[in-house]
Amino acid sequence: MGPPDAILGVTEAFKRDTNPNKINLGVGAYRDDNGKPYVLPSVLKAEEMVKQKNMDKEYAPISGVPEFCKLTAELAFGPNSEPLKSNCNATVQSISGTGALRLGAAFLQKFFPGNKEIYMPNLTWGNHTNIFTHAGLPQKKYRYYDPKTVGFDFKGALEDLSTIPERSIVLFHACAHNPTGVDPKPEQWKELSKVVLKRHLYPFFDMAYQGFASGDVDRDAFAVRTFIEDGHKIALAQSYAKNMGLYGERAGAFSVLAENSDQAAKVLSQIKILIRPMYSNPPIHGARIVANILGDPSLKQQWLTEVKGMADRIISVRTSLKSLLEKEGSKKNWSHITDQIGMFCFTGLNQQQVERLINEFHIYLTKDGRISMAGVTSKNVGYLAHAVHQVTK
Ligand code: LMR
Repeated sequence: MGPPDAILGVTEAFKRDTNPNKINLGVGAYRDDNGKPYVLPSVLKAEEMVKQKNMDKEYAPISGVPEFCKLTAELAFGPNSEPLKSNCNATVQSISGTGALRLGAAFLQKFFPGNKEIYMPNLTWGNHTNIFTHAGLPQKKYRYYDPKTVGFDFKGALEDLSTIPERSIVLFHACAHNPTGVDPKPEQWKELSKVVLKRHLYPFFDMAYQGFASGDVDRDAFAVRTFIEDGHKIALAQSYAKNMGLYGERAGAFSVLAENSDQAAKVLSQIKILIRPMYSNPPIHGARIVANILGDPSLKQQWLTEVKGMADRIISVRTSLKSLLEKEGSKKNWSHITDQIGMFCFTGLNQQQVERLINEFHIYLTKDGRISMAGVTSKNVGYLAHAVHQVTK
């Protein structure tokens, strides 16, 4: 019998619990203020548009729905960006963010000419380890999260990136770092970009939360776009699970930036050769929803407002959680709850405290003390603050 997944296993345990006060703060999946999954109104409209077009259900090309790939690259790189003007991106639709990372791992494992090891931030999303291991890419860590400051270890990251072997692959979370909610500041990204360029490191960005960090999709693409402006040829994984709430539709994309359009066509041909034996071609429905949203200016505007609404709700529950902990009488410093951004709060709770939250209070979270703020609502935040104070006082 294999062990349950570190994140999705939490949902399985939550579902088995019959206590009426139970809360699932494990998986990063957005809930509205009533604790219910949220289907974005823009998504419902796009689905209606798809339906009215009476489209067939034929296979997508191996690389995915073409309009989806085009609009997805525009969302990431910016519509007038250099890679798109010169056609030097190889972009394919993927089975959401995980699938994009898995394709990237397979591509790099086969074709990366340098040191075939990937350097990941310490800490990182638990599934990153599984994905790169599965593809046979050994992993190492660079310093990222500093438990002392509960913030970004900028000095440590710079030092590590300056000393790891040249021509290594480095994984970056483009925004809303998972699990810590700690991102480099814009000036720090610029410094990181310089070091990565100087050392000929290969940046692989995971952008699973575009729009979720700041509520602004362009601002959240800052790191990706800065690196590209600085001349990096990056690899990029994208996901529409969070920012469009398309979790189960599995809509995402993987891109490689090449030197020129001829090289991009060659890269694309090789990615297609990797996809075909894995899953032939990707599902069409989610990609059509995305393409209808991004391709219709007024619907896109509506979606952007809805993304901001989700991001703002999370910011507001962060503020309430912090102030309610203080009201409970907690003397601890909880400012990281409001300093961190994106879906997650890295609470600093230890494993024993996490276990107490689960067993005594029926509040489910991952063992590392990460809580998904997206599951906190105005109705359960008081109970959560009370419970966290009980296990930390
Ligand atoms: C998470 O970290 O909770 C999400 O990215 C969902 C997942 O698949 O793990």
